[in-house]
Amino acid sequence: MSEYILGIETSCDETAVAIVKGGTEIVSNVVASQIESHKRFGGVVPEIASRHHVEQITVVIEEALAKAEMTIAEMDAIAVTEGPGLVGALLVGVNAAKALAFAHQKPLIGVHHIAGHIYANRLVEEFEFPLLALVVSGGHTELIVMKEHGKFEIIGETRDDAAGEAYDKVARTLKLPYPGGPKIDELAHIGAQRIDFPRAWLEDSFDFSFSGLKSAVINTLHNASQKGIEYKHEDIAASFQASVVDVLVEKTYRAAIENNVKQVIVAGGVAANKGLRKAMETKFKEERMNVMFPPLSLCTDNAAMIASAGYIAYKQGHRSGWDLNANPGLDL
Ligand code: KG4
Ligand code: ZN
Repeated sequence: MSEYILGIETSCDETAVAIVKGGTEIVSNVVASQIESHKRFGGVVPEIASRHHVEQITVVIEEALAKAEMTIAEMDAIAVTEGPGLVGALLVGVNAAKALAFAHQKPLIGVHHIAGHIYANRLVEEFEFPLLALVVSGGHTELIVMKEHGKFEIIGETRDDAAGEAYDKVARTLKLPYPGGPKIDELAHIGAQRIDFPRAWLEDSFDFSFSGLKSAVINTLHNASQKGIEYKHEDIAASFQASVVDVLVEKTYRAAIENNVKQVIVAGGVAANKGLRKAMETKFKEERMNVMFPPLSLCTDNAAMIASAGYIAYKQGHRSGWDLNANPGLDL
């Protein structure tokens, strides 16, 4: 129960390293964000991301070990995000993990980024199966049923944009800085739902679609400016957020009932959304069911979640070979 796993995450724009004890106890958790470098481009620039990871990775590994007052020799395994994500960014983490594991002859464990997001919740509370996870991030929107540790059944996914991607694109249209999700969330709180944006229910399916909603927001703003009407940004944000949240909450609820789950968890960057957290809590409370979110710092990309998922893989006997490679399209 007291194995120490060193986790490494570099799939997008955070260089992150963490040490987790026994799969659930964070010993250290360091995240070096590159947001400031990508902001002026309005999104993540893959080349810049890779370069920053190369510059940061050794520093962040050393910082995570220093904060834990531990050495690599004391680690039981090295876990790393092998995919999905930006290939150049993933490669930096994978190569660092391989070098560390090889030099110190430690087991190497490749982790799926989404498994990591889900296991961020296990740093807070023990899982109860069957479990339903709603994963909402910049690259993913998925409903996943887990009947046991390490096994994931995707029952619904986005057919176009991810929820976070829709937030970021709408934010860009409103000329808000990257990443737009948190900004829209803030604005939504002071705005009113004046516009009835569409909700893609995709009846009889747990799939999602957000590109129609994104286009509706863009068209509404375009038509308004042609007619000389001006909408307040906060009202656009509130109306857009209501559309996203309604669909996420309702579909998650239906999936929870249909799959008779014991626990519902929400994961990924958009799980930090205040409107979503509140609406989920209200809906599930009404139905006398529990819904769980990671603390805000564990919603967005971090390495503690990779170490937590890596611990389960380690206990289940999974080991990656020295030929482990970055896989941008890795299946869950
Ligand atoms: O999980 P994450 O850090 O990276 C991916 O794996 O994609 O998620 C980042 C996404 C971005 O799209 C960001 O705008 C969104 O999460 N996000 C939010 C909030 N905080 C982050 N979206 C809505 N509301 C928030 N409070
Ligand atoms: Zn992520």
